[in-house]
Amino acid sequence: MKKKEEWILVFDSGLGGISVLRELVHVLPEERFLYFGDSKNAPYGDRSTEEVREFTANCIAAFIPRGIKAVVVACNTATAAAIECLRARYPGKIIIGMEPALKLAAERHPGGRILVMATHVTLREQKFCALMDRFSSTCRVVPLPCPGLVEYIEAGCLDTPEVRDYLQNLLSPTLATGVDAIVLGCTHFPFLKPLIQELAGPHVEILDGASGTALQTRRRLEAENLLRSGTQGTVELHNSLNTPEILETSAYLLEASR
Ligand code: DGL
Repeated sequence: MKKKEEWILVFDSGLGGISVLRELVHVLPEERFLYFGDSKNAPYGDRSTEEVREFTANCIAAFIPRGIKAVVVACNTATAAAIECLRARYPGKIIIGMEPALKLAAERHPGGRILVMATHVTLREQKFCALMDRFSSTCRVVPLPCPGLVEYIEAGCLDTPEVRDYLQNLLSPTLATGVDAIVLGCTHFPFLKPLIQELAGPHVEILDGASGTALQTRRRLEAENLLRSGTQGTVELHNSLNTPEILETSAYLLEASR
């Protein structure tokens, strides 16, 4: 007998997708979520497109037998590299991807200067180039790769002198020339939002795609009559490292304030 498809799988290269999971739980409190972070292979952001595709496809395939009604690729990097392949492999399944929230930033800051922090893979893939082209006449987009930043979050460092120095060095040249908004185009970065806001100052708006992704997931489930209701939902946290430490950090990040 075919297993009942009642889970929503939320996938990321590591712990970053938990910033999306917490929005999903907020918007869909009655759903059952399986979270998988591939921290063993993180970061994905400096890898080849083929590697990101392969890791993503393998991780998701491993969970399909659990009975998955929707997959949320809570990773801008995996979305940029692999979303088309996933949709081709699982036609008919709800597969939600993410992209840097540039549309939202352009709407809120017409004519503004918008800094997009993301991984090398996200910024070099066709998906982002097309997005940037779409908004280049309405705002000035400054893409900023952040190699090494994901590793701090994977280690649970959300405000240490090292991450502070890293961000200060990375951001100050662009901030000095004026920025209206910062788009966090990697799902790891919202965990650093308080620190980035402090460095950028209160006049700079910081945006990410978590809430939009959660609302989109709800719309898709609703449209296909797949919403679960009546009882409290659940969350299972899994990670390819499978150590008590990584599972503890995952639980800590899920509870971290939004
Ligand atoms: N969290 C991921 C993203 O949204 C990628 C981090 C990485 O593995 O480099 O892009």
